[in-house]
Amino acid sequence: MRLEAGSVKARFMSETEAPPLPILIVPDPVLRKTARPVTPADASLVAGLVPQMFATMYKAPGIGLAAPQVGVLVRLVVIDIQPDKVPAPMVLINPEVVAKSDELAVREEGCLSLPDQYAEISRPAWVKVKYQDEHGTKHEVEADGLLAACLQHEIDHLNGVLFVDYLSSLKRNILLRKLAKEMKERKAKP
Ligand code: NI
Repeated sequence: MRLEAGSVKARFMSETEAPPLPILIVPDPVLRKTARPVTPADASLVAGLVPQMFATMYKAPGIGLAAPQVGVLVRLVVIDIQPDKVPAPMVLINPEVVAKSDELAVREEGCLSLPDQYAEISRPAWVKVKYQDEHGTKHEVEADGLLAACLQHEIDHLNGVLFVDYLSSLKRNILLRKLAKEMKERKAKP
């Protein structure tokens, strides 16, 4: 997930020196696939991927990144919303929304897989998410505000869902056409 244009401040690269990975851009079909659960047999995959995903997310810069966005179809997400501008990296393996509020909250969202596109998205204002960290320890987090939106946005990626899916088809088509045009222009630049 990405914050609205202009509000992204300096990011922290201290987490890792791993090389960043290319981010898949809509309409890449991999972004529409369902990712498989991470199992204990994936330990070395996860150990290699987590620092690369943080490097990719901080460089973008973004506040959340799901493994399918870098072409790996496993249920792994990294998030750092940097509360008070202090790094707070989270690794979420097999995350699952186990409770959510009826109350909704509207927030402007963007996505590293839809560069420079933003829209107001309505989601449950509060969620409880269960997940494991990279050491296999189980956690539960309750979140509202930005973290609640970010958790839902990233978990959606594991199910092939993008924030534009919550828009009317008219708004979605306008946004996707604008993205396609801008990506074409970007490619055409020398
Ligand atoms: Ni996203």
